[in-house]
Amino acid sequence: MHFDLTETQQLIRQTARDFSVKELEPGAGERERKGQFPKDLLKKMAELGLMGVNVPEQFGGVEAGVVAYSLAMMEVARACGSTAVTMSVTNMVAEIICKFGTESQKQAHVPKLTSGEYVAGAFALSEPGCGSDPASMRTTAKRTDKGWVLNGTKQFITSGEYAGVSVVWARTGGPGGKGISAFLMPADTQGLEIGPEEKKMGLRASNTVSMILEDALLPIDALLGEENRGFRIALTALDGGRIGVSSQAVGIAQAALNAALDYAKERHTFGKPIGEHQAIGWMLADSATELEAARLLILQAAYLKEQGRAFTRQASMAKVFSTEAANRICARAFQIHGGYGYVEDYPVERFLRDARVTTIYEGTSEIQRLVIARDLLRN
Ligand code: CAA
Repeated sequence: MHFDLTETQQLIRQTARDFSVKELEPGAGERERKGQFPKDLLKKMAELGLMGVNVPEQFGGVEAGVVAYSLAMMEVARACGSTAVTMSVTNMVAEIICKFGTESQKQAHVPKLTSGEYVAGAFALSEPGCGSDPASMRTTAKRTDKGWVLNGTKQFITSGEYAGVSVVWARTGGPGGKGISAFLMPADTQGLEIGPEEKKMGLRASNTVSMILEDALLPIDALLGEENRGFRIALTALDGGRIGVSSQAVGIAQAALNAALDYAKERHTFGKPIGEHQAIGWMLADSATELEAARLLILQAAYLKEQGRAFTRQASMAKVFSTEAANRICARAFQIHGGYGYVEDYPVERFLRDARVTTIYEGTSEIQRLVIARDLLRN
């Protein structure tokens, strides 16, 4: 067993780091305050390969694997949490289409996602009345002579307003997970309306909207995978997506720890830097230890996925631990900053706000524990 990264993994991480430090970090606070979606930056990221890190080269990806993807995500999130979630969902959508799509679906959409021709991709699973329990969704899709006709509302859809293509789930059969199908829905779909942007606590430079489907018309070949077998596609995609969001949480937490370290060295009380007081030193030590543990759990899940092995339990363990640790690490960084943590002149209040949602989206902490417990009891 060794922990060294391959040359490719190092290269991808360095590429993401250089771009993040130079291009993403400088304006991150301002973009977040203004709620400015980073369209141009996303295009540049696509040109660097960051929108298809684990996507085959033949569809414009860099085929660098899941570990490289996770490392890149950590770097991007360290600079800008909002950009990181947009990158996470776009990579997830490109990967799902590669895994479950027909050749023509892959050709039609994946190169546009990886090249930045599509600003982003979206994953439209949640609804106003179902987030944790998507098998109870109410959106329907009916096969007609003209094509599939979809009706319903999707809620909290990341990048929904900017997505060139969205994967949308709808009920095509009976109740529960066995009656759900997945579809590829282009942005210009007739009958698709984008709701107003959500006013969020954090990640304000990412886009979160509802998608209203009123007799939305899709061609018959928009079906992704088999009819009534779409729920498994969602769960497979979410396993991978959880590695992305865990990596995002670790990136944000790393930024918070770095800020706390800087501040602990420069701020003096009682005649010495505050970091030399045991109360602060222990907070820093706990944060660094939890961050390291989170990183290792995530890279283990990424490694298993990359090897084609089962990784559901490990992805959920990584998600619950890293996102909860990120919240603790950001809260400690905030506390270490004292009154300065509470004002926008320092970035830690943004890190705390950005980290908060990571224990909720892509499956809440409670859902991760449910997945882990079920797996433990079954195996
Ligand atoms: N991979 C593939 N298939 C799986 C699977 C997995 N990880 N887990 C279960 N399955 C299969 C089962 O074997 C079963 O197959 P059959 O129908 O053939 O028997 C089927 O999928 C249904 O499984 P369950 O009966 O276990 O399903 P369930 O309804 O009890 O729910 C759940 C399971 C894990 C709780 C699931 O509902 C879940 O993950 N909920 C959370 C949803 C979520 O994460 N939403 C996030 C929204 S997207 C988002 O947030 C994106 C963003 O913007 C950042």
